[in-house]
Amino acid sequence: MKLSKRDFLRMSAAGLACMPNSLFAQTDMRAVTARVADIQLLPDDYGKTQIWGFDGIAPGPEIRVTQGARVQRRIINELPDPTSTHWHGIRIDNAMDGVAGLTQDAIRPGDSFDYDFVVPDAGTYWYHAHNRSFEQVARGLQGALIVEEPEPIDIDHEEVLILDDWRIDPETAQIADTFGAMHDLSHAGRLGNYITTNGVYNLAKNVKRHERLRLRLINASNARIFQLALEGLEGWIVAMDGMPLAVPQPVEGSFLLSSAQRVDLIVDVTAEVGSAGHIVQLSRDESFSQVAFGVTGNGTSARRGTPQPLPPNAHAMPDLGSARDIGLLMEGGAMGGMRGAMMGGRMSSMRDMMETGNFWAFNGAVGGMDGPALAELSRGESVRLKITNDTSFPHAMHLHGMHFHEIAPDGSLGALRDTTLLDRGEVRDIAFVADNPGKWLLHCHMLSHAASGMMAWVNVA
Ligand code: C2O
Ligand code: CU
Repeated sequence: MKLSKRDFLRMSAAGLACMPNSLFAQTDMRAVTARVADIQLLPDDYGKTQIWGFDGIAPGPEIRVTQGARVQRRIINELPDPTSTHWHGIRIDNAMDGVAGLTQDAIRPGDSFDYDFVVPDAGTYWYHAHNRSFEQVARGLQGALIVEEPEPIDIDHEEVLILDDWRIDPETAQIADTFGAMHDLSHAGRLGNYITTNGVYNLAKNVKRHERLRLRLINASNARIFQLALEGLEGWIVAMDGMPLAVPQPVEGSFLLSSAQRVDLIVDVTAEVGSAGHIVQLSRDESFSQVAFGVTGNGTSARRGTPQPLPPNAHAMPDLGSARDIGLLMEGGAMGGMRGAMMGGRMSSMRDMMETGNFWAFNGAVGGMDGPALAELSRGESVRLKITNDTSFPHAMHLHGMHFHEIAPDGSLGALRDTTLLDRGEVRDIAFVADNPGKWLLHCHMLSHAASGMMAWVNVA
C-alpha cells in the first residue's frame, strides 16, 4: 500500500492515540560498533595489540549527557562472538539493562540491539559488555557514561579517568588468551600485568597551580582493587558510584577502588609550578604514578575553600524497621574449605564443581542466572541484605538497577553505592528500596568469580 502525503497525515492523526510511541519519538539512535581492532596499547617500541572495543577503541567512546536525558545507542556486533551491553549503575528500565541471558538475548555477530533509556541520576557511570564479561571486558569492551548535573559546578575543568589493567604477553604484545584459567577463577580473579589510565600507561595532564579539578575515576579492570592516594593535590571524595556524598570527605591517606566502583574527587592543585601532582597507586611497598598533573603555571584564582556537596539524586530511603531480611553467604574458592555445593539441582563435590569451572557458592549453591531468584520482592518494599564473605578473597558485590546504602556498624545508613567491597571474612549489611521492577543481577564484579558461581538475581514485581 502506498499512501499519499495527505492520507498519511490523516492516518497519523487518527492513529496517534494507538500507534506505538517509537514511531513518533524523535530518534537519535547513534551507532556504536563493537569490533576487533589493533591499537598501540603498549609503549611505542612494542607492536600493536589486538583488542575488542566499542568503535574499535578502549576505552570506548565517552557518552556524556545531562541528567534526565535519553540515551539511544544502537550497538552493532561485529565481533566474532555474541555480546550485550550493560549500563553499569544506571537505575534503568529492566529491558535495557543489557544482561545476556536475563534481560535480553545476546546480540549475535552481524546483529544489533537498540538501547534506549533515560538516566535519572547525575554522576559517573560506565558501560561494558555483559556476555562472557570475564573475557569481553578484559579484551576492552568498556567506556565511560557521564551524566552531568543540570547546573555546572564550581571547578576549572574535569577529567574522566578510566583505570584498567591488562594481561599482556610481552613477547607478542597480545592480550593473554587465558580467559577462564582455573587459577583466576578460584583465586583473586584475572589480574593484569599492564596498568593503564584511559588506555595509556603514563597519562599526564597539564594543570595550573590552585586550579580546582573534578576527577571522575572508574575502575574498569576485571579484578584489581586499586589503592590510591594523592600527592601534590588536596582532595575530597564528593561522590561514590555516581551518588553524591552529603558531606565531601577529605582524602587523607589512601582509599580503595574495587572493580566497577567509581569515585568522584574534587582536587586542588597544590604542587609547585614546575613540579607535578599525582594520583598515586600503592602496591605492596611500592608506589607508582597512576596519573601525573604537571603544573605549568599559576592559575588566576587563589585557592578556594572546602567544596560544596554535589546536588543529591532523589532516592527513596529504606525503612530498616520494616525491611525484609535476606542473607547471602559467600563461600568457596581456593583456601576456602568448602566441600561442595548444590549445582544444577543436586549436591556436588568441590571436585565435580571444579571440573565444570565452578568454584564459588551463594547460600550453598553454585550461582548463575538459571536458578530461582534469590528473592521475590514486592515493588516499593525495603530490603536489608546481609552479605557474609566466608572466603579467603575480597569480593566486589554489585547489584543492578538499584543503588543501596551500606549500613554502618552503628546501624546508620551509609553511602549509596552500586558495588560494595568486602574483604575476606567481612560481613556487610546493605539496604535499599526495591523500587525498580524487573530481574536484577547481584554478582561479584571480579568477573572471573561471577563466571564461576558468584552470581544471583532478584525479582522486583
Ligand atoms: Cu558492571 Cu553485572 O555488571
Ligand atoms: Cu569475587
